[in-house]
Amino acid sequence: MAKFSLPKNSKIQPGKHFAAPAGAKNVRAFRIYRWNPDDGQNPRVDTYELDLAACGPMVLDALIKIKNEVDPTLTFRRSCREGICGSCAMNIDGTNTLACTKAIEDCASGDVKIYPLPHMAVVKDLVPDMTHFYAQYASIKPWLRTQSAPPPKERLQSKDDRARLDGLYECILCACCSTSCPSYWWNGERYLGPAILLQAYRWIVDSRDEDTGARLDDLEDPFKLYRCHTIMNCARTCPKGLNPAKAIAEIKKLMVERRA
Ligand code: SF4
Ligand code: SF4
Ligand code: FES
Repeated sequence: MAKFSLPKNSKIQPGKHFAAPAGAKNVRAFRIYRWNPDDGQNPRVDTYELDLAACGPMVLDALIKIKNEVDPTLTFRRSCREGICGSCAMNIDGTNTLACTKAIEDCASGDVKIYPLPHMAVVKDLVPDMTHFYAQYASIKPWLRTQSAPPPKERLQSKDDRARLDGLYECILCACCSTSCPSYWWNGERYLGPAILLQAYRWIVDSRDEDTGARLDDLEDPFKLYRCHTIMNCARTCPKGLNPAKAIAEIKKLMVERRA
């Protein structure tokens, strides 16, 4: 019979508690997943109470405050702190999003719960292992592929052709969508997932790209593309407001059209 309980070393243990500083007036607790590959311990959830009166407005501000002032061992990725680099993607308050653009006050009442992106191997604490995700990105050859001789200056695009990239070029490869997608959870080794397929479509519709046929050939595979079952978690969670499911549907449409 199938066993549905977690292996012993995956069970999350109660963690440490860091109380708010004396005199704090506006206290909010942050419950944060912790796991260190070097200490042989199970994962745990630590609780940090912060005085929001002395903290910036975003969840990333709280994480930085914890790391700087309370517990320097807390590990997470961040860089731009304005929703551009995609490195602070994590699961906050039950949703995959960017810590730098998620306001603390927009988290449901009670403790703010913060976990790494789901269904990814964890490197440490809130840092997921993106190796496979980036390898999948490289596999779609995400650059302009041309056959014709280069023009003297540059490959031009009409305004209308450029507009076809809207809703695609804004993707910051944060992986919030792919790690919210049940099909990617179960078949992530072979299914490319919403982020990479949105990127693939971005090159397929680029009027300057001359390898459309080969790009579609590469996706004509029972797993790479066709594991999308239009569950739409991807579009719901994208912190940039993009719709990867639509891009996937457009690729499928092109596949059908070229068979006709
Ligand atoms: S619509 Fe497709 S890609 Fe998006 S979450 Fe659902 S199965 Fe995944
Ligand atoms: S489509 Fe949205 S959620 Fe997915 S990787 Fe791009 S920016 Fe992130
Ligand atoms: S720190 Fe760059 S997107 Fe959040």
